[in-house]
Formats: sequence, structure tokens, C-alpha cells
Amino acid sequence: MKRRSILLAAAALGLAATGAHAQGTYPSRPITMIVPFAAGGPTDVVARIVGEHMSRTLGQQIVVENVAGAGGTTGITRAKQAAPDGYTIAMGHMGTHGAAPALYPNLRYDPAKDFEPIGLAAGTPILIVTRKDFPADNLKDFIEKLKNEGPKLNEAHAGVGSVSHTTCTLLASITNTKFTRVAYRGTGPALNDLVAGQVDFGCDQIVNLVPQIQAGTIKAMAIATPERSPSLPNVPTTKEAGLPEYQVSAWNAVFAPKGTPKEIVQKLSDALDKALDDENTRKRLLELGGVIPDKPERGGAALQKLVESEVARWTPVLKAAGVTAGQ
Ligand code: MLT
Repeated sequence: MKRRSILLAAAALGLAATGAHAQGTYPSRPITMIVPFAAGGPTDVVARIVGEHMSRTLGQQIVVENVAGAGGTTGITRAKQAAPDGYTIAMGHMGTHGAAPALYPNLRYDPAKDFEPIGLAAGTPILIVTRKDFPADNLKDFIEKLKNEGPKLNEAHAGVGSVSHTTCTLLASITNTKFTRVAYRGTGPALNDLVAGQVDFGCDQIVNLVPQIQAGTIKAMAIATPERSPSLPNVPTTKEAGLPEYQVSAWNAVFAPKGTPKEIVQKLSDALDKALDDENTRKRLLELGGVIPDKPERGGAALQKLVESEVARWTPVLKAAGVTAGQ
């Protein structure tokens, strides 16, 4: 009996040592960052910008894997189910980790319990945008069109529970309007159709829109933040444009599966923090209208609080709007 227990103890020590050794040499191979939407959209853009600098700090490539579907919940479920070894992380956001629980009764993850929060990557103000020849040149006239012709107008979004879907649901609720809703695998492809004039409007994150608005290939009706964005000084706020109650901003943040060792979580958080302090990374995010989190908003503890508050915030709003998955 004694020999067996010694052998077991030695085996356990060996495992622990391996674990500790693995954590000590982490990362020893490339890291997958799941982006739960199509390439080219805002979440993909933020992931690639911060991922590039994180790769340098960690000494291993962060490889983005786009896993789209179901408003981002497919990809985030994949991340939840991944081995908690630090080699799979995900870029979630206000939709996947705030709105989704209210919209998916059988959601296969709990945003507040099934992840190790790594940190906030960027705040992403929301804009109401239209195709360039939409017959309205300001928010007031746009809303008039929504009220009079809503069902004939096509809104492009990235699936139930996405940021675009959630924030245009809020718009419908505030303006008491209904419109036709067209789902895409991300607002990257949705924007292509908006530029092509195939759809009429959308509610999207600024980091996806700045180049197109500046080029005049789409029109911005308003930005839903208290102040104008420095990257779009000519776009009025919703308050200036006569819809002060429409105030909404999204965010993108990095998560690892629950059970990822604390030392590894800390290494990832530190790498994200360094990326957000890097001049070039900041410049790229700011040029696209991204809002860089201040130090107190960074890290896992602050992100955990944000997720809990966002789930609490969006659940009553979306329930009141009567929206559920499949719409
Ligand atoms: C995207 O990257 O496509 C967006 O984050 C989708 C969305 O949430 O609207």
C-alpha cells in the first residue's frame, strides 16, 4: 500500500511539474484567437490589431480563426469548449457577452461564468448608417422614412445577438418602428452590401465604418455617443440630431476558457495591456474611432464586472423589445 501511495504521489508531482513547466514556458506554440464573425468586420479588425502586438510580446503568433454564425454565439461556444491551456482565446463583445443570454434561451455558455476574462480591447461607438443614395440626409428625415416605409426598408445586421442586431433593435424600440431585418455572417459582408446599395441601413461599430464614411460610399446619420468622434468630426451625435435617448456604445474584449491557469491568464492580460500602450496599436485603433480603455478599465477583474453589468443591462431591454433568436 505504502509503495502504491508513493508512486501515486510521485505521479501527481510529475503532472504538477509538467503543468508548472508548461505554464513557465507558455506560449511554446501559436495561439488561436477565435473571432465569432466573418473576416473584415469590426471584431475581426480589433482582434487583428491588438493580436499583432500581443504576438510580439508573447513570442508566438496569435492566429485569428473566424468562426461565424448565430450572432457570434457559435464561435464563443467553440471557445468555451476549447482546452483551457491558453492556446485558444476569443474576441467577444457586447453582443456575445451581454445581449446573447436574453436572446438565446438555450445558449450553450454563460458569459459571466464560463470564461476567464483577459481584458477589454476597445470601446466601439455605434453609428446609424445608410446606403449613399438613401433619401434622407439627416437623422430626423431618416426616422421619418422608418416610420412611413419601415417594412420596405432592409436593415443589415450580423445575426440575432450581434451588436448590430442588438443596437438596431434598440433603435426600433425607441422610435417605435419596424423594418425588414437581413442577417449576415458579420458586418464586414453586411457593409459590402450597404456600399453596393443592396440594403438600406444598419447600426454598426465605428471601427468598421470610418473609411467608408470618409470616402462617401455610405452616409452616417448620427453617432450614438454623448460626444462626436475625433475620427468623424462632421457626424452629429444622436442628441444633436434630435434623438437623445438613443445612446449606445459597444466594446470588444478577450476571453479564455474557464480553467485556464491564472499564470497564463495573467500573461495574456499583460500582453493585451502592452498592446494598448503601444503607440502604433493605439494609432490604428484611434484612427478607426476605437476608444482605448484606460488602465482601470483593463484586465480581467474590470472585464468581469463589465460582462455582468452588460448582461443585466441588455436583458430587460431586449425582453421588452420582444426579440428572441430566429428573428
Ligand atoms: C462583426 O465583427 O461582424 C460585428 O462585431 C458583428 C456585430 O456584432 O454586429
